Amino acid sequence: MKRDAEDLLMPVEKAGLLFRNPFIIASGPASKTVEQIQQAEQAGWGGLSIKLTFDPEPYINPAPRYRWLAEEGIHIFSLETRLNLQQGLRLVEAGRKGTKEIVILANITYVGEKGLSGWAEMAKQFEEAGAHAIELNFCCPNMSFNLDAIGETQRSTPSTGASLGVSEPVVFAITKAVKESVHLPVFAKLTPEGGNIGEVAQSAIDAGADGVCTTANRLGVPALNIYHPQRSIYRLQEGTSLGCISGPWLKPLALKDVLQMRKTIGPDPVIIGTGGVHTFREAVEMALVGADLIGVCTAVMLKGFGVLSEMVKGIKKYLRETGRNSFSEIRDGALPYFKPVTELILIPGQAEVREEKCVGCGRCVVIAHCEALEMAGEKAVVRKEKCLGCSTCVDVCPKGAIAMVSL
Ligand SMILES: Cc1cc2nc3c(=O)[nH]c(=O)nc-3n(C[C@H](O)[C@H](O)[C@H](O)COP(=O)(O)O)c2cc1C
Repeated sequence: MKRDAEDLLMPVEKAGLLFRNPFIIASGPASKTVEQIQQAEQAGWGGLSIKLTFDPEPYINPAPRYRWLAEEGIHIFSLETRLNLQQGLRLVEAGRKGTKEIVILANITYVGEKGLSGWAEMAKQFEEAGAHAIELNFCCPNMSFNLDAIGETQRSTPSTGASLGVSEPVVFAITKAVKESVHLPVFAKLTPEGGNIGEVAQSAIDAGADGVCTTANRLGVPALNIYHPQRSIYRLQEGTSLGCISGPWLKPLALKDVLQMRKTIGPDPVIIGTGGVHTFREAVEMALVGADLIGVCTAVMLKGFGVLSEMVKGIKKYLRETGRNSFSEIRDGALPYFKPVTELILIPGQAEVREEKCVGCGRCVVIAHCEALEMAGEKAVVRKEKCLGCSTCVDVCPKGAIAMVSL
């Protein structure tokens, strides 16, 4: 084995599958072709979930148009290409033949007339094609869910992705039908759009799923041109729709989803934590709130398959620094500290201005909810009896001239 590949080894065994490291290329544009699967294998990724395969043929399937809004940390799109059944099956078959170690998940949606047995048959076909695991797509917000959200109440097209994932009984029924039809591990990739992703995750586990995954994109409004709202922010695209958002912006929400799922489903089922992972830090955060494996999509789209190397190196360094021996030991490390808001402990204290650092800019005295800060000549001062202890002034001060002190 080449030295580089050895450096990327951090084996994790989950749901009976051996991953070279906990990093998986999440389903998306970087997992559509055999060449990409081979590149992912060469770059050392532990796993890869193929681009959504849709059976029968996707009813919305245009060429892709994406925007990466670097300043906002937002990746957004509405137009995207999916695979049909034959493309998906061929991809898995060829992907397996062309690789040795990468774990291949088949990300699937069935929308035909056979209902549950259609899902079961589709999963079976992917098992025969060589998939290591099935990932049920209960998360895509960009097809029927988009149409519902934008007010197409009379739609005649079938429910897909997030429209299924909002319903516990639907997730339960489909997961059960698929799990009973294959011998492979089955993961349910869920959406938080239904409200309580923990409960939906529990219904997938009750139905026999080996694990759950979150978060896919969240549906939002792309940045608007305020003078010309008719103009699309996309290049080579006319018109605007609700858009699928991913990237760094998504991370706090994705962490919440993972935490909520882990708290609800308990320690045993596998969680693939996805959403906003760009460096090893977010991967560690994901593990700290309960993730076993880490999905990455946008960072791979933008920076290529090689992003893995820095992530694994970062994790290895973190393990050394914190005296841990394996990635699994990070898991749940932050969970005990998450308490109901009613149990948080308030430490009495107040703001103090470090006079020598204050330049008298006045940013702290305009804070609308605060009556404690005022100017005395060129310097800000705190009227201690009025200080709520909120600490907004510390954050808005550009000179680090304010500190909170406990009483
Ligand atoms: C362009 C694009 C296409 C995607 N296609 C799929 C898909 O086919 N199936 C799926 O489950 N998730 C899909 N996703 C969601 C990603 O797998 C991932 O869950 C999401 O982007 C959040 O992770 P990230 O912030 O690392 O991108 C797609 C994401 C993007 C950006």
